[in-house]
Amino acid sequence: MAATIDEDGTVRVTGHAEVLRVVRDPQTFSSDVSRFLQVPNTLDGEEHAAFRAVLDPYFAPDRMATLAGPCRRIAARLVAELPRGRAVDAVSGLGVRYAVEAMLAWLGWPAELEEDLVRWVADNAEATRSGELARTTEVAQRFDEIIGRVVEPRLADPATQPRDVTDELLRETVDGRHLSREEIVSVLRNWTGGDLGSLALCVGVILHQLAADPAIEADARARRGDPARLDAAIDELLRRDDPFLSNRRVATADTVVGGCPVTAGSRLTVEWTDANRDPAVFPDPDRYAPETHAHANLVYGAGPHVCPGRPLATLELRILLEEVLDRTTDLALDPESRGERAVRPLGGWASAPVILT
Ligand code: HEM
Repeated sequence: MAATIDEDGTVRVTGHAEVLRVVRDPQTFSSDVSRFLQVPNTLDGEEHAAFRAVLDPYFAPDRMATLAGPCRRIAARLVAELPRGRAVDAVSGLGVRYAVEAMLAWLGWPAELEEDLVRWVADNAEATRSGELARTTEVAQRFDEIIGRVVEPRLADPATQPRDVTDELLRETVDGRHLSREEIVSVLRNWTGGDLGSLALCVGVILHQLAADPAIEADARARRGDPARLDAAIDELLRRDDPFLSNRRVATADTVVGGCPVTAGSRLTVEWTDANRDPAVFPDPDRYAPETHAHANLVYGAGPHVCPGRPLATLELRILLEEVLDRTTDLALDPESRGERAVRPLGGWASAPVILT
């Protein structure tokens, strides 16, 4: 089945071809799915394109090159500090802290925010798991309050010269006007809030697969020294166990998707994890084949909303993996505990115990 209908009427699109069709046709499948402004995620059409044109350059290669040094220092310190010979949780013990510290370095935010953000990632995962609106609203407000602490003083007293990425964002214009406070907060929320949790989950699925399969670990070690080949391995590990499960769309016209009738106004989800394991495209979805599978990999989405943060996520994940490979001779699973799978809407491992030697 390339699509199914949930009890609440949401059409879950799971087939690879069908997911591609939906995300490549934003006129029929709008991203305007939320009551809250989310820039650029819930925008459509020209407005969406105008914001992407302003925001995408923040992830350009020259920008990423300046971040490699800070990311490596953070990764080297965190990996060196991890215990050897006993289990550590790759998600909470490494992924979350790395994601937060790398993000603070990228945006130029003060280190004092680290503990608040680490706590926020854990609370956000719990609230998301609970599905309770009151809890998710509370953590969303707490995050806006953290962003406000950074943005308000800068808006009140702008720097003469931009000191960092956050200052630059405050000066941006779209269609000849400055971004509103609400838009700035929303961009920063989408650059940070979503990324912190998903990057930590990515660290979990990557290290867990290396620890679980000596052949994959050996292949990753053989690719160390060739960044493009190591990136391909990382993308393939994320495809096999994609922690970023799905995104939403709303139909603007009557249509049919994967055999399911869809009426205008219906809700859909594009299920990246299922599409990334669709046997029609990946006959043996568990097979680890970085180069063979790369062309069909949907971990970072497709179409006009394709992830703009991919270069940043790829850089951060590669540098962390390089440091893990350089500072260990072996990764193994914990014989005492298999770990705990995350629960929808999160994917991957909630906790991924691995033993570093
Ligand atoms: C950690 C691994 C990451 C994964 C697996 C991931 C995955 C995705 C996917 C599948 C989409 C498509 C959403 C859709 O079609 O509705 C997306 C969009 C987006 N991602 Fe990522 N992402 C990651 C990291 C990041 C990072 C590091 C950033 C920024 C710092 C980022 C910012 C965004 C934004 C702003 C969008 C919305 C783009 C738009 O609507 O035009 N992501 N991401």
